[in-house]
Amino acid sequence: LSHPAHEFCAVGGDAAGCGGGGDGTRILIKGGTVVNAHRAEEADVYIEDGVVVAVRPNIPVGADNVRVIDATGKYVMPGGIDPHTHLEMEFMGTVTIDDFFSGHAAALAGGTTMHIDFVIPVNGNLTAGLESYKHKAAKAAMDYGFHMAITKWNDEVAREMEVMVKEHGINSFKFFMAYKGSLMVTDDLLLQGLQKCKSLGALAMVHAENGDAVAEGQQRMIDLGITGPEGHALSRPPILEGEATARAIRLAKFINTPLYVVHVMSIDAMDEIAKAKREGQRVIGEPVVSGLVLDDSWLWDPDFTIASKYVMSPPIREAGHGKALQAALSSGILQLVGTDHCTFNSTQKAFGSDDFRKIPNGVNGLEERMHIIWDSMVETGKISVTDYVRVTSTECAKIFNIFPRKGAILEGSDADIIILNPERSFVMGAHTHHSRSNTNVYEGRKGKGMVEITISRGRVVWEDGILNLAPGSGRYVMMPPFGYIFDGIEKSDAIYRASLRAPVQRGKAGA
Ligand code: URP
Ligand code: ZN
Ligand code: ZN
Ligand code: ZN
Repeated sequence: LSHPAHEFCAVGGDAAGCGGGGDGTRILIKGGTVVNAHRAEEADVYIEDGVVVAVRPNIPVGADNVRVIDATGKYVMPGGIDPHTHLEMEFMGTVTIDDFFSGHAAALAGGTTMHIDFVIPVNGNLTAGLESYKHKAAKAAMDYGFHMAITKWNDEVAREMEVMVKEHGINSFKFFMAYKGSLMVTDDLLLQGLQKCKSLGALAMVHAENGDAVAEGQQRMIDLGITGPEGHALSRPPILEGEATARAIRLAKFINTPLYVVHVMSIDAMDEIAKAKREGQRVIGEPVVSGLVLDDSWLWDPDFTIASKYVMSPPIREAGHGKALQAALSSGILQLVGTDHCTFNSTQKAFGSDDFRKIPNGVNGLEERMHIIWDSMVETGKISVTDYVRVTSTECAKIFNIFPRKGAILEGSDADIIILNPERSFVMGAHTHHSRSNTNVYEGRKGKGMVEITISRGRVVWEDGILNLAPGSGRYVMMPPFGYIFDGIEKSDAIYRASLRAPVQRGKAGA
């Protein structure tokens, strides 16, 4: 077997340059069921230099220096891609405890081989923010990309956005509609940002909660003497998420640009997305694992250490919301699953022991996502194995314009692959996880399906419960603008403009 031209190099580079692993490792995965989002098939997979070279039945073993892995009875799937993480993020007076090394250890042990993290600007400055995150990511052990938050607006920020897209491979910008006084943006900024995103072919993302109303709701709780973690949920009810989601969707429609709603946590928000989709609007909804499988009862646990673990925003809701979000995911209303991995240990969470407003917001999930979605959705028959690959990997690669280099097991794709044994079971918890946190919101959770092997760009990095990481080996993945979701936008703009210039045509049949 010969090495193919590495056809996706055009999108590689920047921080770590092109290179498909390059250490000469050859692996033949035999006898498994290879699952891509478009089909599952009995096939072997041959990998060389970090790249998938062949996918077909009965590939002969050939040369001696090829490692053969028997995958009989197992699923061979693209490694997970987590669209939403916060590694080493400065937030709420502290820093998330997982960095680009421990976070990657956790991810790889859980079958995720790439993630997209949110660069937070430094005092509103994007260039400084990127510089800081490049340093943080120097120890990366797997591939990663960046989204960037926009926290302030002026001409300089607009110019920097263009530089981020054209020179640094960032094709998405996040606007926080919550966190008043720190990250929150006004509608004015959001409108300017949506317009700029559209012109650059970059995807606008929103954290959709009404931050002004949240501040009011928080004060209400404090005035009532409710200072514990339950006050977090009570102060920011689903209607505030629904309101902001609806507002962002309408503003995106007004600008005619696609919108990505991160961490959809409620029926209220999901319904707004469903309605917009029904009307033909390009809106992507991302549920996160915690919102799909946990419920808010934990926030009432009398033990602060337990209750505070579950504080994240938007809050984890009553159980009915998670069920509805699962249904929306299985029916395509919501498209891909993230984690919002944003981990703080119990000492950090205790900053808010007498005031829930000071509990750092965030939960773990980077290590757990692939297993929980398999167990709760594939094992229960809610989604097929091909849909599993779609919602955990392929859809993310397509939306952020790095498919089929990522998100597929096809000739020429990066060899980011997992081998999952559906017969084995797992138990989760802080004693066995790879995150640096001393707590886990999935403590004691059991289920079926186990990622036995993780291959990151052609290297076996997780096998038999043992990690074999190479700090610094993770590559920065450049993500080009104008992904598929922008295709056709200019046509609908032209039709809209024409309709404005021909007012007499309005209302006539066929107009
Ligand atoms: O509670 C959360 N979600 N923390 C991370 C920051 C964010 O809003 O995504
Ligand atoms: Zn290459
Ligand atoms: Zn958020
Ligand atoms: Zn987040």
